[in-house]
Amino acid sequence: MERVKLKTTKIKKLSNFDWIEYFKYNNSHLLKLDFSNNTELSNEEKKLITPSIKAFQLGEGSEGKHLMHVVEKFALKKNYKEYPKIMKLFIMEENRHSQTLKKYMEIYNIEPAKKLWIDKVFRILRKMMGLECEVIILVTAEMIALSYYTALSNATNSTLLKTICTQMLNDELKHVVLQSDTLHRISKNRNEMINKLIRKIRILVMKVTVYVVWHKYKKLFIEGNYEYKKFKKYSLEYLKESINIEKTGNLEE
Ligand SMILES: [Fe+2]
Ligand SMILES: [Fe+2]
Repeated sequence: MERVKLKTTKIKKLSNFDWIEYFKYNNSHLLKLDFSNNTELSNEEKKLITPSIKAFQLGEGSEGKHLMHVVEKFALKKNYKEYPKIMKLFIMEENRHSQTLKKYMEIYNIEPAKKLWIDKVFRILRKMMGLECEVIILVTAEMIALSYYTALSNATNSTLLKTICTQMLNDELKHVVLQSDTLHRISKNRNEMINKLIRKIRILVMKVTVYVVWHKYKKLFIEGNYEYKKFKKYSLEYLKESINIEKTGNLEE
């Protein structure tokens, strides 16, 4: 399967895109999930997906307290009135992701994770700085998730899991566009030297994340038709698309 491009979201002009309308529409047009069948996964498949699905289930869910705090500050400063509402709907969608994965894990008796060190690192990093740092970490994780849910979908024969992954990919693609648009609003009238430096940092953060995630969950990725080179290449391509949005404020080249 080819890499899903951000352009498939068909969002062109971001400055007047109605995110509130989008989130409401998306939430009322979700794929139907039937949790009544718990015989789709073999024991081997269950063992294969358990470590990573536990980590992603935990990572998807968050109250977003610190995020909302910096979002409100930014909205006031930039007179971007809809932003807090948009981000509230976004956090709700992430919590739905977490709930969906939890329900799936429950039917196979997979215990939810308490706190994994990788999750803690992400959370501490995000709280260290303002909105820009939060959003950069968030969007990095979401671009990684695009590869992860593709691999997860490929790795088993579970129809339910594949449907969950399709929904996740649909949602996460839009999230990547949304965060990239925020980064555009942040960098728009800023010194170009700083913008270039931040872009370099984003590339470094992505490379480190790809390395860590690969070494933790490579079995799943390999089973899902990803080798390291492909995972790294796709992740850097997503980042290139995201940086393009950050630079131009839209998805056209
Ligand atoms: Fe998510
Ligand atoms: Fe997301």
